[in-house]
Amino acid sequence: MTASAARVSRPTRLRGTLRLPGEKWISHRALILATLAAGESRIIGSSGGADVRSTAGIMAALGASVEQVADDGRTVDYRVAAPGADGPHQPSATLDCGNSGTSLRLIAGMVAGLPMTVVLDGDDSLRRRPVARIIEPLRSMGATLNGRHDDSLPPLTVVGRTPLRATEYATPVPSAQVKSAILLAGLRARGRTTVREAIVTRDHTERMLRARGVAVERTDDPDGGVAWTVEGGLAVQSMTEHVAGDPSAAAFWLVAGSIHPDAEITLLDVGVNPTRRAVIDILRSMGADITERSTVPDDGVGEPRADLTVRSSHLRAIDIAPKQVAAAIDEIPVLCLAATQAIGTTTIRGAGELRHKESDRIAGTAHGLAALGAAIDVHGDDLEIQGGTPLRGAATDSLDDHRLAMTFAIAGLVASGETAIERPASAAISYPGFFDDLERVRA
Ligand code: S3P
Repeated sequence: MTASAARVSRPTRLRGTLRLPGEKWISHRALILATLAAGESRIIGSSGGADVRSTAGIMAALGASVEQVADDGRTVDYRVAAPGADGPHQPSATLDCGNSGTSLRLIAGMVAGLPMTVVLDGDDSLRRRPVARIIEPLRSMGATLNGRHDDSLPPLTVVGRTPLRATEYATPVPSAQVKSAILLAGLRARGRTTVREAIVTRDHTERMLRARGVAVERTDDPDGGVAWTVEGGLAVQSMTEHVAGDPSAAAFWLVAGSIHPDAEITLLDVGVNPTRRAVIDILRSMGADITERSTVPDDGVGEPRADLTVRSSHLRAIDIAPKQVAAAIDEIPVLCLAATQAIGTTTIRGAGELRHKESDRIAGTAHGLAALGAAIDVHGDDLEIQGGTPLRGAATDSLDDHRLAMTFAIAGLVASGETAIERPASAAISYPGFFDDLERVRA
């Protein structure tokens, strides 16, 4: 075990009130839209995670003036002045997305309609993540894109075309990143661009465009899918975005509070967008005791928020269908942990997209939780988790994946003995200060 492993043991009680880092997804989009808007935008309470800092660096490389007005490590307030009348500038170097798939895919869509050539690259994990899913639709709009390995992997080169051709595209896998890339490209297309998704994914881009004066039409298909349409050529207005607490960060404490026998944790001002709150609803249907006090109601344009309080409960197993997997895609690893403590056998079906995240999260979750004594079977893209399994502290490996590092740390709060998490620093990709909060709620 390396000296850098984090060690977690079971406390007798979990108590505390936490304010989480700002929503990562909204922070990325706020920086991108501020760079496309005219004038000055503010982003209050942005995520201080490394992923969003990658996007901020790239917006500066594209000519925006990105000023960190406040930065306490986990939360950043930005003032962003757009690049000027001619829009974003040709960058002089490769754009480094670090570990962030959202940066790579959304920025590819953003620049596809701009008169420039950019190369998007990142760390070893990002270089293993699929890009064909954005190359195909953006090519159909007239941009030229190429990736390594037969156009399947980053680095990704984008040669923009002005204007793009509008498209009508049905996403083959549920992916908000792909949908968002196409909608951002659609801003620079001649005519109306439509993205059709069979399973509805997070709608932050759509809401944030509307809030900035760009109409995004929603059409509900009879089979449950949704089509989103944006008109090319409309101006994006600047604005101030107040970013809510990150629901994916909240998920770790919701699970911790549910499975620890003596817990009460309150999470302040968490984003509860209907396309992002699946983790709350799944845990409740497992019997979790989560109370929710709305702080900002949903008006369909802004992001609804609530204070959440979770208390110890006795969870029951459930079946998580592919639609729910898509809605809780980033929370599935920690939901697997919850399932190990529920009564009965939980099944999770159609989770294949998890293999394309910062690591293969099906293999990484199963391996790490099995090391702690959990019984998890993987059958193709499905998982079967035996509940009621006492966990025993052991060594786990985050594989440098932030969500696995935090899942195993939360497991350490209920496992007997000591749980070691190798490569824990990856938590700061989305949740700087996670281990400080962990100490806080143990106190
Ligand atoms: C994201 C969408 C999801 C999610 C990722 C961020 C986004 O990815 O897993 O963490 O910002 O739109 P996919 O849309 O590719 O599933």
